[in-house]
Amino acid sequence: MHILHTRADLHAALRSCGAGVASGVALVPTMGNLHAGHLALVARARQLGSPVIASVFVNRLQFGAGEDFDRYPRTLERDAQALERAGCDLLFAPDEAEMYPVPQTFHVHPDPRLAGDLEGAARPGHFEGVATVVLKLLQLVQPAVAVFGKKDYQQLLVIRAMVEQFALPVRIEGVDTVRDPDGLAMSSRNGYLTPQQRAQAPQLQQALQELAQCVRAGCALPQLQQAQRAAEQQLRAQGWQPDYIDVRRRHDLQAPQAVDLGRENWLVALGAARLGSARLLDNLEI
Ligand code: PAF
Repeated sequence: MHILHTRADLHAALRSCGAGVASGVALVPTMGNLHAGHLALVARARQLGSPVIASVFVNRLQFGAGEDFDRYPRTLERDAQALERAGCDLLFAPDEAEMYPVPQTFHVHPDPRLAGDLEGAARPGHFEGVATVVLKLLQLVQPAVAVFGKKDYQQLLVIRAMVEQFALPVRIEGVDTVRDPDGLAMSSRNGYLTPQQRAQAPQLQQALQELAQCVRAGCALPQLQQAQRAAEQQLRAQGWQPDYIDVRRRHDLQAPQAVDLGRENWLVALGAARLGSARLLDNLEI
C-alpha cells in the first residue's frame, strides 16, 4: 500500500494505478483511529471498485468550539498497518496545509431541513464542515464510488443529498454499523470511555431498541412521543446526558406523522448522548 501525503503524490499514484480505467476508484474517507467498522467500509469498497483508497484526515472544520479536535486520537502508523492488511491500495493522509492550503472560505451549506436538526442542532456547523471536506476529497480523488458508515446516519443522508444537488459523478454507498458483541456501535470515541462507562455504553442502543419495539407493537404518535421522553429520562437516570432520542423518517429525517408509523422500512430511531467525556451516537432502522 502506498501512503501519500500530498495532492501531487496522490494524483501521480492514481495515474499510475490506471485509475478510472477498470471499475473505477473506490474511496473510503475517514478521520483515522480505525476500528473494525472502518475496515468493513474498506471490504465493501474492494467489492465495488479498484484501486481502493482510504483517506485519513482529522477535519478541523467539522469540530465545534469545545469539541474534541485536539484530543481526537491520531494513530496514523497503526491505521496504515490495518488498512494494508485490509487490502487497501492507497492511503491519502494530508496535513492541514495540504488539505486547506489557503483558508477554506468557501463552504458547503447543506439544506437546514436535513442538516439543521439532530446532530446539526447539537453540533452547529458540523455538517458544513463534513460536506466541505467530503466535496474536496471527492474532487481530489474523483472516485467512482465513496463508502460511508450508516452509524453516522444523518451524515450519510447529507452526503447523498450533496451529491445529488451538485450532480457529482460518484455513487455513495452506505455500510451497516459494526458492533461489539454487547451491541455497542464501534466508534473511535469509544476509547474515551472508562471501563465502567464502557460496560454501560450499550444502554444507548437498548434505548433505541425500546423505541423500535414501541413502533413495531403499533403504538400511536402520542405513545411514541411518550416513549421517546421516557427513553431520554431513563438514560439521564443512568448517568447519560442525551442530546436527542428520536424516531424519524429514514429518507428525510423528519418527525413521523401518524400515517408513517405503519409503513415498512420507513423509520429510524436515532440517538446521541454524552457519557462522561464521550459523546456517542447510534441508530436503528425500524
Ligand atoms: O465520518 C467521518 O469519519 C468524517 O465525518 C468524514 C466523512 C471522514 C469527513 O471528515
